[in-house]
This record gives sequence, structure tokens and C-alpha cells, in this order.
Amino acid sequence: MAARPKLPAAEMIVLARQIMAKAYAPYSGFPVGAVIRGGNGRLYAGCNVENAAYPQGWCAETSAIAAMVADGERRIAEIVVMGPGRALVTPCGGCRQRLREFATDSLPVHVCGPRGLRRTVSLGELLPLSFGPKNLPGKLR
Ligand code: THU
Repeated sequence: MAARPKLPAAEMIVLARQIMAKAYAPYSGFPVGAVIRGGNGRLYAGCNVENAAYPQGWCAETSAIAAMVADGERRIAEIVVMGPGRALVTPCGGCRQRLREFATDSLPVHVCGPRGLRRTVSLGELLPLSFGPKNLPGKLR
């Protein structure tokens, strides 16, 4: 039987709710919060930041990754993504690839609504047969 994925810590959910409330999403009206637990155990939060030139906006996951890397951490242990609405707010395609840079297929992605956890999926489920750093031997790692 497959191991049951670990639940995200309550503090990750609380922080996701707080950072989601800080989203700058005047165009979509769709605030998203993301909280990463780095390999060092620390939490990194980010929200989406939209722009009047629409394509220049970016996602909550991207903000959280930037905070993590700026702190010197390069491994994502788990991530909470929180957004509103009935449909599950899973990371967009571009963010799946950005997460892949700092995590492997087993990364738990906790998909949450404001009231808490809705579903946990792995990055491998979201981005099967992915292209990652190991495809470029000799580079970086
Ligand atoms: N968005 C995120 O920040 N993360 C996701 O996982 C999905 C979408 C943002 C981008 C945009 O600002 C708004 O949600 C609507 O697409």
C-alpha cells in the first residue's frame, strides 16, 4: 500500500492564508498564496503579483521560490498552494517546471482553499516525465 502523504503543518496553512490576503491581483480578483518548506526546515511565503501589462504578472509559487533562493536554500521539501473558488488551485504549468528545478517527483504539493487542505498530490503527478537539472549533466549540481 502506498504511504499516506503527510499533512501540511498548521503553521503552513495559517501563513498561506496570511500571504494570500496580501496578493496583488486587481485584474483577476484571484488571490493566491504559496508557502514552501525548504530543505532547511524554514518557511518561505509568496503571493501572486499582477501587472497592468498582463503577461508581466507572476504566480504565488514563483514569489515563494524567489524568497527561498534569496535565503540561500535550494531544496523544496513541501509546498502549500492556497486559492479561492470551487476548482482545485493547482500550480500552473510554468510553476510546475519552476518547482521541478528545486524538487523531485515525490514533492508533496498541498492544494488548499482558505478553509484548509483539499488534496495532496505529488509533483510527479502534476508534471510526469519531467525535464530537470539532471538532464543537463555537469551543469550547476
Ligand atoms: N495563480 C497563481 O498565483 N498560482 C497558481 O497556482 C495559479 C494561478 C495566479 C496567477 C494570476 O495572478 C491569477 O492567479 C489568476 O490566474
